[in-house]
Amino acid sequence: MDKVIDRVLVSEEEIRTKVRELGEQISTDYQDKDLLVVGILKGALVFMADLIRAIRIPIEIDFMAVSSYGQGTRSSGAVRILKDLDRAIENRHILIVEDIVDTGLTLNYLVDNLKSRGAASVKVCTILDKPSRRKTPVAPDYNGFTIPDEFVIGYGLDYAEQYRHIPCVAVLKREVYEK
Ligand code: XMP
Ligand code: MG
Repeated sequence: MDKVIDRVLVSEEEIRTKVRELGEQISTDYQDKDLLVVGILKGALVFMADLIRAIRIPIEIDFMAVSSYGQGTRSSGAVRILKDLDRAIENRHILIVEDIVDTGLTLNYLVDNLKSRGAASVKVCTILDKPSRRKTPVAPDYNGFTIPDEFVIGYGLDYAEQYRHIPCVAVLKREVYEK
C-alpha cells in the first residue's frame, strides 16, 4: 500500500474515537424520534457499519446507491439513482450517511429528493468534509473530519473501485491518478 499512499490523513484510532462521539450525539438528538439511517453506497459502507453500532437508540437502516463520479477523481454533477430505498419514507426522520461531502452536488440532490417524498426531516452525517470545493451551499449536520482539497482513499472511499478496504483515510499519491 505504501506504493499508492502519500500519507495517512486520519488514523484508525482517530476514526474510532470520532465515530463513538457521533453515535452518542445522534442517539441524544433522535432519542424520541423514529429514525431511518440511510447509507449511500458504496462509499459509506464502512462508516455506516461502524456508526450504527455506536447508536444507542432503536433505528432502522436502508441504503441507496448513486453515481456521480465514474472512474475519475472529478464530480460530473449529474447524479443517478442506481438503487433506491426499499420503502416509503413519508413522515419519517431520515439521516443520510455519506463518506464525503465534496462539491456538495450529490448531497444537494439527495436531500431534495428525500424531502420531496414527504420525510419529516432529512439530515446528513458524513465522516469527511472537503468544504473548499463546494459548488452549492450545503453543510453536513454531523461531520467527522474536515479535510484539505486532496483526493483521499480508504475507509470506504475508492479510486477506480480500489482501496475501499484500507482501514484509515489516506491521501492517494498523485502519480497514481495522473499517469
Ligand atoms: P460531491 O462532489 O457530489 O461528491 O459532494 C460526493 C461523492 O464524491 C466522491 N468523492 C470522493 N471519493 N475520494 C474518493 O474516493 C475523494 O477524495 C472524493 N471526493 C469526492 C465520493 O464518492 C462522494 O460520495
Ligand atoms: Mg461515493
